[in-house]
Amino acid sequence: MSSFKISKLQVTNFRNLNSDIITFSNGINCILGENGNGKTNILEAINVLATKKSFRKNTSFPQFLSFDGGKPEIIFSSVFENHSQEKISYSAKMTSDNILWFLNGEPVKKKLDLKVIFINPFDSYGFHNNASDRREWIDFFIGQIDQTYKRNLSRYTQGMRFRNTLLSKKPNKFKEQIIASDPELSMLSMYLTARRVEFLKEIEDYIALTFKQIFSEEHQLKISLDSKIIGLSALNVQQVFRNNLEIDCERGHSSYGPHKDDYVLLFDGLNSYDYCSLGQQKMSYLSLLFAYIELFRYKYMSYPIVLIDDVSGELDQHRWRRLVEYLEKREFQVLITTANEKFKEELDRISGANKIHIKNGSVIK
Ligand SMILES: Nc1ncnc2c1ncn2[C@@H]1O[C@H](COP(=O)(O)OP(=O)(O)O)[C@@H](O)[C@H]1O
Ligand SMILES: [Mg+2]
Repeated sequence: MSSFKISKLQVTNFRNLNSDIITFSNGINCILGENGNGKTNILEAINVLATKKSFRKNTSFPQFLSFDGGKPEIIFSSVFENHSQEKISYSAKMTSDNILWFLNGEPVKKKLDLKVIFINPFDSYGFHNNASDRREWIDFFIGQIDQTYKRNLSRYTQGMRFRNTLLSKKPNKFKEQIIASDPELSMLSMYLTARRVEFLKEIEDYIALTFKQIFSEEHQLKISLDSKIIGLSALNVQQVFRNNLEIDCERGHSSYGPHKDDYVLLFDGLNSYDYCSLGQQKMSYLSLLFAYIELFRYKYMSYPIVLIDDVSGELDQHRWRRLVEYLEKREFQVLITTANEKFKEELDRISGANKIHIKNGSVIK
């Protein structure tokens, strides 16, 4: 698998962005500008081009389409550079019901397999506060590097949804049906749990390393899975489903399974949610994401394009500096947006960084 870097992007009718050609370098790209001018929209456009989707929830074509666009279609034109430094022109035409892809001017059925990782340091808050955010995060990342996990997770989710539908209706009428579907859910529960444990093992060393590299702390960061399934056999799990059935019928939903598991972030052995400052939580969160990027490279022998949105607040200047130095040494392409003057100063110190100034959806020359 080869990695791609984005060299140029031009969008038409995408949010507030004007049809300027935006040029990126292969290393660090800083997108600067005041709030509400279109910095995040650039990252979103790249995310949509790469994955068909936004990183924002429940956001699609109607939200992307410019308020004052004429024709209801969005055009993405771009140039990517592949592993052998060949330039590829890649375009997409998006309407309310489909997307057409063009590679070097020719229509193609399948889109390019572009990998991007979107990081918003602000998401650290949700990650530390909500178990569902943690699960979603880890599920998404394991799914990115493991198709089998993604498939099995979706089978499990559908199975659970069906089970819950039966439970919420007339559970007594459907008991037999619920019991009949439990063996498969038990097998899937076993698989998902084992893969999550394996993922944490895979990422463990990278976390320790990135945390040290980025924040140069003597502190230790670890992540562990809090699961009621670890150590059980598929039959045990099935038995727990069975034992809980009466309670589940009363509650109208399934109270047990990997959809209830949680992850604990340990900072020097202490739960980071309970004991860490917001800055430390943010550092831990970023370390986890960069560790994931390293694991990704190990798996694929290539890096994703890294989009970092809105670095601001909570980290002091010393930490910013370390983060910038870390990014500078990396081989991945990174696009980083900020309205923060202090961080802008840090980025200004990087001689090789490409700076893109955005005002009212336009690139200022
Ligand atoms: N569909 C749309 N059409 C036109 N403008 C939009 C659309 N969606 C959002 N915007 C505008 O985009 C701007 C926000 O851009 P954004 O990239 O989030 O700014 P920032 O530079 O702060 O990251 C807002 O001014 C908003 O009104
Ligand atoms: Mg923004």
